[in-house]
Amino acid sequence: MKTTPSLKSKVIWITGASQGIGRQLALTMARQGGTVIATARSFGNLDRLQNEALDLEGIIIPLPADVTDQDAVIRAADVIMNRFGRVDIAVLNAGTFIKTAGVDFRSTHMRKHFELNVMGVCHCLDALIPVMVKQQSGIIAINASLAGYRGLPAAAAYGASKAALINMAESLYTDLKPEGVDIKVINPGFVKTPLTDKNKFEMPFLMEVESAVEAILSGLNRRHFEIRFPTVFGMIMGLLRVLPYRVYFSVIRRLNQ
Ligand SMILES: NC(=O)c1ccc[n+]([C@@H]2O[C@H](COP(=O)([O-])OP(=O)(O)OC[C@H]3O[C@@H](n4cnc5c(N)ncnc54)[C@H](OP(=O)(O)O)[C@@H]3O)[C@@H](O)[C@H]2O)c1
Repeated sequence: MKTTPSLKSKVIWITGASQGIGRQLALTMARQGGTVIATARSFGNLDRLQNEALDLEGIIIPLPADVTDQDAVIRAADVIMNRFGRVDIAVLNAGTFIKTAGVDFRSTHMRKHFELNVMGVCHCLDALIPVMVKQQSGIIAINASLAGYRGLPAAAAYGASKAALINMAESLYTDLKPEGVDIKVINPGFVKTPLTDKNKFEMPFLMEVESAVEAILSGLNRRHFEIRFPTVFGMIMGLLRVLPYRVYFSVIRRLNQ
């Protein structure tokens, strides 16, 4: 049987921890002994999450903050550093999806995605990179999406924000490796969460949040840069990613009919 390394004594910061992937990840990491600092905007959900973890080996500490607010993120990071003096693992997961069909294109949708999905991550990086470079250790996992591989129908804003994250993470990986800081990118397919519960279309290879979290944890324990799941959908999207435009658009047109 595969054994999971203990997270005992690890200080872990998860954003977007009040529901969905982040919440399940927080509970699972606390079950494995981690000290999990859980950030999101809703106090109530974070409080409930803390109570749910009371009997676990580790703990969950709610640290409410809006990641689009740079000062609030810096204050949150200061709270963590004052209490624990370090961060071992950060999972920058807070994000949103607003369907953006081409005919309904709104720059406000694009701004919202970039402010939360991209700048929310960047505000955390402002705080985390100096800390981890000083420690000469640490893992920062950025939750992007397979939707960041190529432009998909009705996802101009979401896809562009996730493509930006993937590209940024690739740069940071190379820059920060020599400093002992391990940057990872998480590229999930469809995961059943409150975010995807709103989708009206059929989601291929939809997976349960527990399986998604298992894949993330297994990826955090490996050396690879990318944590991609589910396997088959990841391979299909990987193939679409390298197709020449003419073939790619023809495949997408047929899939979108
Ligand atoms: N579910 C999927 O199929 C899927 C696939 C690929 C990638 N992803 C990515 O995975 C991440 C999590 O997705 P999910 O499905 O778990 O979404 P979710 O269920 O909607 O959860 C999103 C989390 O982000 C938090 N959040 C939203 N705005 C925030 C803000 N301004 N400041 C701080 N926290 C904020 C939310 O809490 P509050 O509202 O309390 O702030 C919530 O905890 C996202 O980045 C998403 O793009 C998801």
